[in-house]
Parts: sequence; structure tokens; C-alpha cells
Amino acid sequence: MMANRKATYVWLRAGMLLLILCGAALTVSAFSRYAAEGPLIIAHRGASGYAPENTMAAFELAERLDADFIEFDVRMSKDGELVIIHDETVDRTTNFKGNVRQFTLRELQGMDAASHFHPLYAEQPIVTLPEVMSRFAGKIGMLIEIKDPRAYPGIEEKVAEIVRRYDLLQGMEGTKDSAGTEGSAGIIIQSFDFESARKIHNLLPDIPVAVLIHAKQHPLSGGTLDKLASFASYMNYSHDLLDKEIVREIHDRNRKVMAWTIRKKQDMERVKKLGVDGIITDYPGI
Ligand code: G3P
Ligand code: CA
Repeated sequence: MMANRKATYVWLRAGMLLLILCGAALTVSAFSRYAAEGPLIIAHRGASGYAPENTMAAFELAERLDADFIEFDVRMSKDGELVIIHDETVDRTTNFKGNVRQFTLRELQGMDAASHFHPLYAEQPIVTLPEVMSRFAGKIGMLIEIKDPRAYPGIEEKVAEIVRRYDLLQGMEGTKDSAGTEGSAGIIIQSFDFESARKIHNLLPDIPVAVLIHAKQHPLSGGTLDKLASFASYMNYSHDLLDKEIVREIHDRNRKVMAWTIRKKQDMERVKKLGVDGIITDYPGI
């Protein structure tokens, strides 16, 4: 009788432990967007394989596909407002022609930024950095690329001012970013221009900064990597340049590495095997 009671007690305790563990697992998974196992998935220009790049539709789709971050490109309008568009001109992605800098915000906002992708998206305008921040800050990570900073004097200060504004609103200061780097959760700022990235680091020391590496800068010497590691938390490489040795060199410096831009499953598998910390892809969810 006594033995039976003891056995029942043991089973009850085991059952409760199992329930607690399941509950904990569910809680962890509910809050694990910023701590998922494996590399972060970053939706390049939003989920741009499925929706028009750098539009709210592409960002919202990335969120639905459970990407960890959206990546997007920032330029400046004639009247000094920060707009989200990849190219120097509006030609490829809108129904107008000309340089982004020659249009006011109002003019840019009146353009159709999506019919080039599919007529179904005709209502998508060019959006601003404050609009994207206000819609997504704290909901999904944001990898903000400053495009051609030398063409837009003062762009770093403007980006920093807006990031500070939303960072404070979200109360995220002093937390860790999604890859575990000290800083504010969910915001990383990157540029191909190393000096611009350094400037951003000086303006926003709590926000992780990334440098973008393409074929012309490759290979980087150990000395250059040391210099970059003094202000950049991430070295984001064109995926075809990456190998195990580069990933090791970056990890040895206690920095992280992301691969861009992944459009094929086999490239995704290859960079995962190399041990990258983030994958920037047009196709989140594949
Ligand atoms: O995030 C990396 C990637 O965006 C850099 O290339 O030309 O697509 O801005 P690009
Ligand atoms: Ca980009």
C-alpha cells in the first residue's frame, strides 16, 4: 500500500515536472524571436522575393514569414527626409525617372513603388524611415543600410536622431541585440562605407554596427579586420566570398558574420555549414 502511494507520488511529481518543462519551452519559444537557434534570418529589402522590395508590403510579409529582421536601404530626399529605396534613382522601382535627391518627400510619396513588381501592389508608395520604425520597432529586428552616405551629407546624424527617438520610445536601451551583442534590441546599422559605419558607431555607441564587404574589398588583411572590429559588431560578406577561414577570423575577434544575399537553397545550406550568424535572403521562410 505504502509502496503504491510512493509510486503514485513519484509519477505525479514526474508529470508536474513535465508540465512545467513544457510550459517553460512554450514560454521560451513565444519570446525566442531574438534568441532562436541557428543563424538569424534577415529579409532582404523585406521579403523581396515575394513582394516589391523596400515597401510596407514586403516588410509585413517578412514579419508574417517569421523573419528575425527586415533589411532596408535609406537615402535622403531633396528636402532632407529619410526615404527607403535601394537605387540612386527612382527609375527601376517606380513610375517616375530621376535621382532620389532631386525629389521632395511629397513627390517621392506620390510615386508607385510597386507596380514594377506586380500590378496587384500598385498602392504601395515609397515609405520613410520614421514610418518603418513606427510600424516595426520592437516587433521585428531592423537592419538599416545607409546607402551612398557621401551623396547625402548629414545622413548619419539624421538616422541617429530617428533611431534614438524610437529606441527611447521602445525602452530598449541597454539590452542585448538579437545576436547577443550588447546594445539596443533589434536594431543594427550597416554600410559599405566603413567611415560612415564608424561615424554611426560614434553617434550611437549602444547600437551594433555592421560593415558590408563586397568583392572589391576582398580579401581583407588581418590588420584591416582588427580596425573594423574596433567599431563594428558584424562583418557582413557577399556570400560567395565566404569560407570557413574568414568566419573563424571574425569569430576569433569576437565579432559576428552575416552572408548576403541568399537566393538559392544550396547557398543557404553552404553558409549555414560555414557557421555564419545571420543570413540575408530575399526568401525568408524557405
Ligand atoms: O544587406 C546586404 C545587402 O543589402 C547589400 O547589397 O545592394 O542589396 O543593398 P544591396
Ligand atoms: Ca541593402
